Amino acid sequence: MYSYLLLLCAITEVALCDPHGLFQRRSGVVPSLSGDPVVMGAGTYPRANFLSDGSILGAYAATVNDNKVLTLASSTDDGGSWSVKGSAATRPTNSSDLDNPYPLQLPSGRVLLAYRNHDKDASTGDYTFFRITISYSDDNGASWLFLADAATKPGGTIGIWEPFLRNAQDGSLQLYYSEENSADDQDSKMRTSTDGGTTWSDAQTISGTDITARDGMLGVATIQGSSLIAVFESEQGGLFTVKSITSTDDGQTWGNRQTVYTPTGTDNNAGAPQIVNVGGTLCVSFMTDEDTQEHNWINGAGAKLITSGDSGSSWGNKIEVFDPQANWPGLLTLDDSSFLYMVDFGGAKSQKIVLS
Ligand SMILES: *[C@@H]1O[C@H](CO)[C@@H](O)[C@H](O)[C@H]1NC(C)=O
Repeated sequence: MYSYLLLLCAITEVALCDPHGLFQRRSGVVPSLSGDPVVMGAGTYPRANFLSDGSILGAYAATVNDNKVLTLASSTDDGGSWSVKGSAATRPTNSSDLDNPYPLQLPSGRVLLAYRNHDKDASTGDYTFFRITISYSDDNGASWLFLADAATKPGGTIGIWEPFLRNAQDGSLQLYYSEENSADDQDSKMRTSTDGGTTWSDAQTISGTDITARDGMLGVATIQGSSLIAVFESEQGGLFTVKSITSTDDGQTWGNRQTVYTPTGTDNNAGAPQIVNVGGTLCVSFMTDEDTQEHNWINGAGAKLITSGDSGSSWGNKIEVFDPQANWPGLLTLDDSSFLYMVDFGGAKSQKIVLS
């Protein structure tokens, strides 16, 4: 069988033959924009996942008068249009910090939203308590209730940030997030839940134990089977680059720290990455100030994309998807050759991208 596939590889689609496995890649590696950006809603930090009914549930952080509102938007046409579906949490901006929403449907049909949910002193602005909170919806994102605080940390100057949820192959739920140890050190953490997000394991550090750097904003994609890749930003000496780690056991253990992207020029930044697998091609979004060189991160950042046709060993085919100023990009696979690139570009927007 393998020799037959090798032969077929050799005589047909050489470019699609991945050295790490045969015929894993069903798409090309060259991205191009398809159509115009579509408004998701007035807000920032857009993230989305498919529901079992084929619709997409998106989330973003909106500011409405004196409140932050974690807003859900639905699309029934693969991101061609969006309509507001509901809101999961609302808190005053001066006494709280509500942001970083990440939606995911469980196999049971329940939908979860993980988000940062911090308390602040309304007079001083100081953080008085940090939480990664999970809310749940049993009606596809229309109405929401509190489920759990999956991680907490006492108030102060170091907190917890940027949750990412993933359904593991064994039916458990994984929560990835970032935790600061000090002003110049932050690690990527992971907790698991076997009861749909009500209770959580202790946190395991999956990147950053052996290095003084600010690892953050992690996203995870499946390469194939139990083989996963996570991307995250890492800041050292004030400059951000994009790194990756991999897992061969569906996220239970992680290692193999690699550099995914270093910005061009001098003293420039590349951060806030996310990753998806699109037909076997890995696609990584990130923001970078390498073109404007403002050296005042995150000011001057545009939103770019790179791809890998060899399971993350090498990266290329860079394009700019949104001009500066574009913040906090996220990704969603649509099918084997297309995906949505979501970003705050004067509000939450989605852009369809095709691979050829
Ligand atoms: C915080 O904002 C609310 C309005 O949302 C306002 O009523 C309150 O006075 C503010 N508190 C402080 C300390 O500024």
